[in-house]
Amino acid sequence: MRLNENTVIYGDRVILVPYRAEHVSTYHEWMKSPELLQLTASEPLSWQEEMEMQQKWHLDEDKLTFILLERPPSSTSIILPAEELHSCRMVGDVNLFLPDGLEGDGECEIMIASKEDRRRGFAREALSLFLYYLTTTLPLPPTSLIARIGSANIPSITLFRKLGFVITKHVKVFDEVELRYSAGAMEDSVDIAGLKLGAVEVFDWENVSLEGRKGKYD
Ligand SMILES: CC(C)(COP(=O)(O)OP(=O)(O)OC[C@H]1O[C@@H](n2cnc3c(N)ncnc32)[C@H](O)[C@@H]1OP(=O)(O)O)[C@@H](O)C(=O)NCCC(=O)NCCS
Repeated sequence: MRLNENTVIYGDRVILVPYRAEHVSTYHEWMKSPELLQLTASEPLSWQEEMEMQQKWHLDEDKLTFILLERPPSSTSIILPAEELHSCRMVGDVNLFLPDGLEGDGECEIMIASKEDRRRGFAREALSLFLYYLTTTLPLPPTSLIARIGSANIPSITLFRKLGFVITKHVKVFDEVELRYSAGAMEDSVDIAGLKLGAVEVFDWENVSLEGRKGKYD
């Protein structure tokens, strides 16, 4: 989608930037990992196919993606000068798929590629900013936000539950759960027996603000 083709969103730990051709090589290296292919239900692609995919993410109206960069700990201002922004390290991506347009559900997915970068709060902050952006800019109604995640992917299921998503379906045949954002509703309508889920403290991303946190990529 072209909506965010020049949009930068500055978090305290991560920075969301549009997926550009200069990101493809690192992305392609990441997606050689069997673990990441399996967890994100992706197929291995050649470099050329990855370039074509980057173009599709840019132009197709049913897709919206940001690359996630690590904010340098030494940065002093929220908005970084262009030179500093363009030298930040890539850590992952976050994306939305709208198979039925804005009238249908929006499927969200996030990846922090390297194990060393996980459990550092990158995904929670990036997803909070992304969800706020989607619901205020597209805008997509919050209750149209869903995630489809393998039943064994407890980190991702826990992350989405922490952001107010509740499990609405457990499709045992695909070994997958579907979660939907439902702002405070209880997880009582679905058989989640067998999933090792603990209680979570929900983070209210609907109250984050992008004021002073948006910039241009170039
Ligand atoms: C799922 C994933 C995105 C989480 O990213 P992350 O940056 O490590 O997550 P955060 O550090 O922001 O953690 C946010 C919350 O998610 C939950 N969480 C994250 N990793 C977890 C783990 N290994 N076990 C249990 N809960 C976990 C916790 O509730 C955590 O909050 P806490 O640290 O205060 O307890 C990351 O593990 C990943 O990219 N995995 C591989 C790709 C993938 O599975 N993507 C999802 C496909 S749908």
